Amino acid sequence: MSEIRIDDLKVAFDTPSGTVVAVDGVSQRVETNGFVSLVGPSGCGKSTLLAVIAGLTKATSGSVTVGGNEVTGPNRNIGVVFQEDSTLPWRTVTENVRFALQIARVERSEQKRRTQEAIDLVGLKGFEESYPSMLSGGMRQRVALARTLALHPGVVLMDEPFAALDQQTRLFLGAEVRDIWRRSNQTILFVTHDISEAILLSQQVWVMSYRPGQIIDVIDVDLPDERDASIVSSQRFNGLHNRIWSSLQEESMRGFRQQEGAA
Ligand SMILES: Nc1ncnc2c1ncn2[C@@H]1O[C@H](COP(=O)(O)OP(=O)(O)OP(=O)(O)O)[C@@H](O)[C@H]1O
Ligand SMILES: [Mg+2]
Repeated sequence: MSEIRIDDLKVAFDTPSGTVVAVDGVSQRVETNGFVSLVGPSGCGKSTLLAVIAGLTKATSGSVTVGGNEVTGPNRNIGVVFQEDSTLPWRTVTENVRFALQIARVERSEQKRRTQEAIDLVGLKGFEESYPSMLSGGMRQRVALARTLALHPGVVLMDEPFAALDQQTRLFLGAEVRDIWRRSNQTILFVTHDISEAILLSQQVWVMSYRPGQIIDVIDVDLPDERDASIVSSQRFNGLHNRIWSSLQEESMRGFRQQEGAA
């Protein structure tokens, strides 16, 4: 069971120009095997929220539990995939994936089995001995995904994992993540700037406001489980898109004005 429960969470940072409240009063839940996307204007606190759930940043007040246990630091049940290319250039694909299992002290024969399983799962079969420099950006993000999946985490947090990729690759990898999720019992929280991506992938979308980062809208994605690209032209998809877009539009303008005012 890997439910994420966020309870009255506040995260404030002390900076030279004063205290920045990045996240404030957030109480939300992602049920076990749920898939939620988080959208919001730049700088609103999305990465901060993910970092707290991952145990990488401390809450100022409030709490986060995963599978009923309070998060107090990094935890093997919580996997993270970041936006930037995090592959190790001097290691092959296999070595990159296996490295995480070595650190986690997984038994040797199990390391081998899980490494191959994760590489197959993300569609990198045949590239096991390649180095990251021989791969495309999309393939490198697959290596990062495989590395996280090999750890068999109950929760996967993804912070704009496909932001640096072209639209086609992005669509393709998104569909792959959704497929992998449907075949697993993982709980996913996915940060993206792309409203269509959020709708296509998830069961629910959270819209975050500009500082202080609060969840101002929660939209259930009432689309069929089988989703192909043609769904983007459906009326229901458009309705969801419009609702998220208008929530975001107001927030982005507010954020932009605040940033201008502060400059
Ligand atoms: N370690 C830190 N110290 C001080 N301020 C921080 C720190 N981390 C984040 N912040 C501030 O908290 C706010 C939220 O940042 P965060 O990175 O969570 O935004 P974001 O929604 O992920 O933005 P983007 O969409 O651009 O990635 C920003 O104002 C940022 O400057
Ligand atoms: Mg961010």
